[in-house]
Amino acid sequence: MAKIIDGKQISLDIKNELKEKVAKYKEQGIEITLVVVKVGNDPASAVYVRNKEKACEYVGINSKTLALPEETTEEELLNVVKELNEDKNVNGILVQLPLPKHIDESKVLLTIDSTKDVDGFHPVNVGKMVIGEDTFLPCTPAGIIEMIKRTDIDIEGKECVVIGRSNIVGKPMAMLMLKENATVTIAHSRTKDLKEVTKRADIIVAAIGKAKFVTADYVKEGAVVIDVGMDRDENGKLCGDVDFESVSKVASAITPVPGGVGPMTVTMLLVNCLRSVELNK
Ligand code: GUN
Repeated sequence: MAKIIDGKQISLDIKNELKEKVAKYKEQGIEITLVVVKVGNDPASAVYVRNKEKACEYVGINSKTLALPEETTEEELLNVVKELNEDKNVNGILVQLPLPKHIDESKVLLTIDSTKDVDGFHPVNVGKMVIGEDTFLPCTPAGIIEMIKRTDIDIEGKECVVIGRSNIVGKPMAMLMLKENATVTIAHSRTKDLKEVTKRADIIVAAIGKAKFVTADYVKEGAVVIDVGMDRDENGKLCGDVDFESVSKVASAITPVPGGVGPMTVTMLLVNCLRSVELNK
């Protein structure tokens, strides 16, 4: 049976470390403030935003959520972002995605001040990440690297297959794995013989968005399997992109859903809020 990588526990350890750092800043009179902007009533977004607020509260970061109505125009949202850019008391700005269809997401992300971009989605920060400059790293991939390291799993020289090529997870995940000296493959929906590709992997990162897609026959004996999925199974129960039951019998280590990657993503947002203070000193 595979070792279960306990993302909840690892993120608690990190949050306790961050709590001390935040307290030290407070002693110096430095308060850290994150503003989350949510547009519309997407139920999943509401849960994610609530989790972010709770995590901020735990470590002592001030968090404020601006909940804007579904009908908010692109111009109105851009103006809100610009005001937050100018506000000296705001260290981090996060616009929760997805945005309603009538708003151009890339325009909004480009408008966020790149020095307050705690999601790491601004093209300037994406570029800095690719060339290896110190900046905000996107939370999910950064959290995955951190949880692998804290589980004492070596990445260097390993064959890593990332399934999924989104801007939020797949692409940056590949870059961060490369930075750790893995040999990286990005597989996706048009990949031929996907099983042949994933069976070569020492580390699989599944970010497909399909419930229990990765079954044991995709996985080499002893591989490490990281599950980014947040899906619902046939009974409406929360599950990941990996069929935990079968894969945990062949993998050497695996992340559960829930309690794996999800808590790490939220925790890395807190790391980025602290980084914002450090980068802007
Ligand atoms: N929607 C789903 N994941 C994320 C995330 O990491 N950041 C933002 N802003 N929106 C999301």
